[in-house]
Amino acid sequence: MTASAPQTVPGFPPTPEFAAQANGTAELYDRADSDRLEFWAEQARRLDWDTDFGQVLDWSDAPFAKWFVGGKLNVAVNCVDRHVTAGKGDRVAIHWVGEPGDSRDITYAQLKDEVSKAANYFTAIGLTAGDRVAIYMPMVPEAIISMLACARLGLTHSVVFAGFSAGALRSRVDDAAAKLVITTDGQYRRGQPAPLKAAVDEALGTGADAAASVEKVLVVRRTNHDPNLPWVDGRDVWWDDTVAEQSPTHQAEAFDAEHPLFLLYTSGTTGKPKGIVHTSGGYLTQASYTFHYVFDHKEGRDVFWCGADIGWVTGHSYLVYGPLSNGATEVIYEGTPNSPDEHRHFNIIERYGVTIYYIAPTLIRTFMKWGRDIPDAHDLTSIRLLGSVGEPINPEAWKWYRDVIGGGTAPIVDTWWQTETGAIMISPLPGVTAAKPGSAMRPLPGISAQIVDDNGRPVTHGEQGYLVLDQPWPAMLRGIWGDEERYRETYWSRFADQGWYFAGDGARYDDDGALWVLGRVDDVMNVSGHRISTAEVESALVGHSGVAEAAVIGASDPTTGQGIVAFVILREGVENTGDTLIAELRQQVSVEISPIAKPREINVVPELPKTRSGKIMRRLLKDVAEGRELGDTSTLVDPSVFEAIRAKKA
Ligand code: WTA
Repeated sequence: MTASAPQTVPGFPPTPEFAAQANGTAELYDRADSDRLEFWAEQARRLDWDTDFGQVLDWSDAPFAKWFVGGKLNVAVNCVDRHVTAGKGDRVAIHWVGEPGDSRDITYAQLKDEVSKAANYFTAIGLTAGDRVAIYMPMVPEAIISMLACARLGLTHSVVFAGFSAGALRSRVDDAAAKLVITTDGQYRRGQPAPLKAAVDEALGTGADAAASVEKVLVVRRTNHDPNLPWVDGRDVWWDDTVAEQSPTHQAEAFDAEHPLFLLYTSGTTGKPKGIVHTSGGYLTQASYTFHYVFDHKEGRDVFWCGADIGWVTGHSYLVYGPLSNGATEVIYEGTPNSPDEHRHFNIIERYGVTIYYIAPTLIRTFMKWGRDIPDAHDLTSIRLLGSVGEPINPEAWKWYRDVIGGGTAPIVDTWWQTETGAIMISPLPGVTAAKPGSAMRPLPGISAQIVDDNGRPVTHGEQGYLVLDQPWPAMLRGIWGDEERYRETYWSRFADQGWYFAGDGARYDDDGALWVLGRVDDVMNVSGHRISTAEVESALVGHSGVAEAAVIGASDPTTGQGIVAFVILREGVENTGDTLIAELRQQVSVEISPIAKPREINVVPELPKTRSGKIMRRLLKDVAEGRELGDTSTLVDPSVFEAIRAKKA
């Protein structure tokens, strides 16, 4: 766990002007409390249903939920067509900004045409509802068009972050048995084109090693960096030659509320990523509801910008489904915040008049490091609301964010949620809540959470406990793809008697009852808001021929929240070549998983601290990495291993 909660600190009440115009009201909590299911039915009716639902929630087969039973809708029609039908076709849906400085504005009418063309092509190649499609793309408009085209046809998309390695892509393609992979020729990285399709080729393999499920690879031309792009005839097709040629008209059909919309793989406590399953009606209801209330979105007036990548859940819910289902105008930026220089984000805010800005604390702390001169050189007065997501935000960063980016008055919504929850769960309600810097405050109307001890008893204020969700919610995961048992085991076994969802986070209430999320209590690290499991990194490290054993921990880091610190034991006879070996090991992790999982620090040690039952004592390694006095070492087999580890680190 990272942050600690002061017992009480004052909150920042909304200004009367903000409160007067806010979508949220205190009454919303009362309404939800008096009849939770009726409240969610009301929220579901913000969407267009082809067939109305009957029962709001069927929890008879818990922990497998069914929401809005019998209802039928088309998710893409809700995100695109219905705005065109309502006469808003000329409204810009997406202001897209490419990293090299190119840009495109896409209206809802244009988006409808593009999505229809892609849907027509997917149908032409024989894909039918229920098939899986892997999307491995940088932040180009075609990525979002592809997601929506899948939704339109009832194809289940699995977006794989384009920073993941070929190996990571392959395991996800295989697990989902994807028939189509959509990618780009290359992607821009800090101003330079880098290959991307090459990773797809490597991932999919050839001959006996070829990924058996994949029939087609659809390639969007983005960087045009390689005149001799390797090509597999029959398998590979250019978007320009296929999708672009299709008719822009497509008749959508409605799907069951529980039809699977997407899979998104996320790290758990073991090395194998889990394919989190989300379905249609409940997911879209909550993504749409939270976007409206948490971001206080005003249709036709606001310009929303979420800085996440579509490879993560934040990109799914707040770049695609939340904003578009609300008819929002949003900014989508392809690149990194310092390309070509540190002014990039602020230039974009100024250029498009961004009013709502949603990023991770890591980026806020990076801006702080760069210095306030940079944002101060821009007119940021359009901003009226700020959001934070992915990791605990420290009070200092919160205050800086509000003062420097938010003009000293913008409310901040610190939104706690997970890939598994699908949409925001705990957050201030702007215009209502007097938010405290660093606290996610309280569950949203319709959501219920508790903080409990090991036995499931509520902890008293000030005491630390486990965050649990004690009532099902519409956007909840419906399972782990192909692994029912792991779903029960991971989320529902810890508090099985009570039937609660165990989130994996520690939390506490302060004396005023505000909720403070303290960080993961399991072996999942949070680096720059990215979830990475210790087991995954360990398994990548032992994949190196010189490594006998590895232990990985997340040590607190002033910028990235946590940084990855590894301890490795070399095999007999392997020479420690110092920096060369460390560089090799870091490269190994980069290739096996992703550059985002590269350890900040690798220590070659003679031994690892273990309990008598052979478990590595990560807590002690964390003490060492964070330079603390060692905690209790009495259960260690050989306490002297620490002298050796310390000596190596010094
Ligand atoms: C952490 C990202 C504190 C938490 C949406 C959670 C947070 C994990 C917050 C999920 C927050 C997310 N305050 N911690 N506002 N938001 N987390 O699946 O540990 O990538 O369990 O979803 O991020 O990460 P995931």
